[in-house]
Amino acid sequence: MNKAKIAVVGAGLMGHGIAQVFALAGHAVTITDTFAKNLETVQSRVAANLRDLGDDETAAERVTPRAELADAVRDADYVVEAVLENLPLKQKLFAEIERHVRPDTILASNTSVIPITAILGDLSKRERALGTHWWNPPYLVPLVEVIETQWTSPQVIAWTMDLHAAAGKKPAHVKKDVPGFIGNRLQHALWREAISLVENGICDAATVDAVIKASFGRRLAVLGPLENADMVGTDLTLAIHDTVLPAIENRPGSSPYLQELVANGKLGFKSGEGFRTWSAEQQAALRTKVMQHLKAMRDV
Ligand SMILES: NC(=O)c1ccc[n+]([C@@H]2O[C@H](COP(=O)([O-])OP(=O)(O)OC[C@H]3O[C@@H](n4cnc5c(N)ncnc54)[C@H](O)[C@@H]3O)[C@@H](O)[C@H]2O)c1
Repeated sequence: MNKAKIAVVGAGLMGHGIAQVFALAGHAVTITDTFAKNLETVQSRVAANLRDLGDDETAAERVTPRAELADAVRDADYVVEAVLENLPLKQKLFAEIERHVRPDTILASNTSVIPITAILGDLSKRERALGTHWWNPPYLVPLVEVIETQWTSPQVIAWTMDLHAAAGKKPAHVKKDVPGFIGNRLQHALWREAISLVENGICDAATVDAVIKASFGRRLAVLGPLENADMVGTDLTLAIHDTVLPAIENRPGSSPYLQELVANGKLGFKSGEGFRTWSAEQQAALRTKVMQHLKAMRDV
């Protein structure tokens, strides 16, 4: 089980990082991509990441590029798909994958937001299929959400949870295929209120971020909200909720403020302005800061 053969379909940002994690954990990994350049560079990208992290660079040799999908998945015990976020593409790909793998090979999709049920619902053996939602970069963010559909067998969930835990990840079982799974539901509940505070003139965007980073953001990596609620008392939590929840944002759709930013071409880093303005130097500095932080947190 620990040395299951892994196949990764898609050698882009996520695919090469997922391949890296499994290779470093000792698995033989095959990887395929329709874009030749991404396939040609995959081993060197993995090696560069490993070098940068101070990990065993020779693990990159366990990642074998394969030009043909059939060759990549034929011997695999586990296939994880990380191609573009496009439902028809993923559906077509899984139909093809199913033609080339063994009947017991487990099939996973790393979609960000497409329902797993929609991607895998047409498979002939749906009990061996599930979602695995990794976070970027896969070799630095520990969480992998393991998403069960109404068809996934409990054995497949258990095997996949064990596979990721043994590879050093922190798998979380998502028992229902709901939009946003767990992590993005929580993250975007916070973002909705963050945008609303700006939209309603309570503070500016920089202040929202400063408040979070200087307060509960400091604790979040070691103290989850429900641990925190127990720590302060469920009775106090109830009292706070009865006062605060009626006042906070609860609109079901996206914010008109956000819609206007997008309509005006204020797309964030890529246009130099979003909620705030960003010079190239500021963008680079923030990206570096995030990577340094994730590296420092790696063993926490
Ligand atoms: N980027 C993130 O932060 C993130 C996080 C979690 C999940 N995801 C999801 O992971 C998936 C991949 O995202 P990414 O950011 O790595 O994208 P990416 O564009 O970096 O990589 C996608 C790769 O898929 C390849 N591809 C396209 N069609 C293919 C096919 N038919 N067969 C094989 N390869 C094919 C492309 O050539 C490309 O190399 C998406 O579903 C995305 O939503 C992304």
